[in-house]
Amino acid sequence: MNVLMNMRILIMGLALFFLLPAPGYSARKHECSFCHISHTGKGMLLLNESVNDLCLGCHPDKKGIGEHKIDIVPSRQVEGLPLGRDGKITCITCHDPHLWSSLNLLRIEPPELCLKCHSQY
Ligand code: HEC
Ligand code: HEC
Ligand code: HEC
Ligand code: HEC
Repeated sequence: MNVLMNMRILIMGLALFFLLPAPGYSARKHECSFCHISHTGKGMLLLNESVNDLCLGCHPDKKGIGEHKIDIVPSRQVEGLPLGRDGKITCITCHDPHLWSSLNLLRIEPPELCLKCHSQY
């Protein structure tokens, strides 16, 4: 094999490495340090912000018209989804930031997700 051939194989290998989705591909988009500061011996502390502010800091388009409401208390009992301390909907009611394996980090896929709080969808 000549040098040029070796170069081609190397470049193709590199291209594949970067193009193929890794298992649990979301992990490549979110680094732990996006949301946590590591604290020697004490594990992971969440950045000192409310969860919604944390998420909206990088996803500012996720609030307002066309986006699902947050910061409201559902009128009916919600089972299987976490609400904020005050019983309000937060970004992590529907998303689990650690669920790398799920598309869009969703705890449950729609429509089941929506049916947790709505009678139809
Ligand atoms: C997009 C934001 C985000 C990212 C990225 C993230 N976390 Fe978290 N993490 C949270 C939130 C919010 C909580 C607290 C609420 C909860 O339990 O889900 C938390 C809680 C934790 C906890 C406390 C135990 C628990 O499960 O409640 C640990 C440990 C942790 N994260 C580790 C990690 C590690 C390790 C990574 C990287 C592989 C990571 N986190 C990435 C947002 C994030
Ligand atoms: C009621 C459930 C629910 C809540 C609350 C919610 N989301 Fe989502 N989110 C979804 C669903 C379902 C999808 C996937 C379908 C879609 O794109 O609308 C999604 C998709 C996303 C995506 C990826 C797709 C894109 O358009 O970029 C991001 C980022 C996101 N949400 C961020 C947030 C943030 C930040 C918050 C809090 C401000 C939030 N979400 C609150 C249900 C929710
Ligand atoms: C430091 C910035 C940062 C923070 C904080 C952050 N994200 Fe993200 N998030 C990103 C980036 C960058 C991407 C990849 C965007 C893309 O590929 O278009 C992403 C992607 C996502 C996606 C799409 C994942 C997929 O499967 O494609 C969701 C859902 C999401 N974020 C939700 C959240 C939620 C919920 C929080 C708060 C707990 C949060 N993010 C906090 C930067 C952040
Ligand atoms: C944790 C509970 C919860 C989940 C899960 C949930 N919703 Fe909602 N949704 C609500 C609440 C509470 C309201 C506000 C109702 C009101 O204003 O009286 C709402 C309002 C809405 C509205 C009315 C428009 C608006 O912004 O006022 C739409 C549309 C909607 N949700 C769609 C969805 C869809 C689609 C899903 C699934 C992807 C979903 N919801 C998941 C609780 C939830």
